[in-house]
Amino acid sequence: MIGKKIINLKKVASTNTYAAGFLKNQTIPEGTVIWADEQISGRGQRGNIWESEPGKNLTFSIILYPRFIRAEEQFLISKIVSLAIYDFLDSLIAGVRIKWPNDIFVDNDKIAGILIESSIVGHTIENCIVGIGLNVNQTSFHSYLPDPVSLKIITGKSFDLKDTLSGLCGFLQKRYLQLKNQERDLMNSEYLSRQYRYNEFHLFHRGSEKFSAKITGVDPQGALILDLETGESQKFMFGEVEYVL
Ligand code: BTN
Repeated sequence: MIGKKIINLKKVASTNTYAAGFLKNQTIPEGTVIWADEQISGRGQRGNIWESEPGKNLTFSIILYPRFIRAEEQFLISKIVSLAIYDFLDSLIAGVRIKWPNDIFVDNDKIAGILIESSIVGHTIENCIVGIGLNVNQTSFHSYLPDPVSLKIITGKSFDLKDTLSGLCGFLQKRYLQLKNQERDLMNSEYLSRQYRYNEFHLFHRGSEKFSAKITGVDPQGALILDLETGESQKFMFGEVEYVL
């Protein structure tokens, strides 16, 4: 049950790092949430830092044991976490999209990021640390690309962090059950139809090369499938292609 047990810490380096250390020393119930008011070295994807003003936003990690899926299918975890954040935000605001692989955008601005770190033995996912940063009450940011945005910037209202966390955990629980119940076709089609810039021609770049293409799919390993203007279809792993924002 996601969020049944919540460990709230005042200050930590990174909730993902804390969770990894925690998992080494003890058995932790599945769904346990490690939530920090402040991270002093919050980590983002690809070695980036995650900016979050103390006490303003949600920065937390969930511990999962998804041993019912094979390690090769681990992108499914990314999908359900993205969908759950999408569902939650869509219940509050308009314009929410999932930007492949797992950023959450509102129009052209980023409101949430996900950092999933798994421990894999053979074909089994022994444990999975799902780190989520959701911008809630922060109204100015130092980072610039992509432009960060928060619930408060969009709605003009402040949100109670504990209630926001528990609301989000409800959606995460629902999506995790959907994965357990093998409702993959539905999940896959929802993940695709909620994509930022889905099925429309836009500019992308690979290194210094710019090209126009449209997103037509995401394969089971999480590669983005782009159809080029020539009609040719190409696959890109994370980091191999960037959106021109
Ligand atoms: C990204 O979009 O680059 C991913 C950001 C993930 C940030 C969260 S905040 C909670 C958890 N602990 C971390 O150090 N990072 C993740």
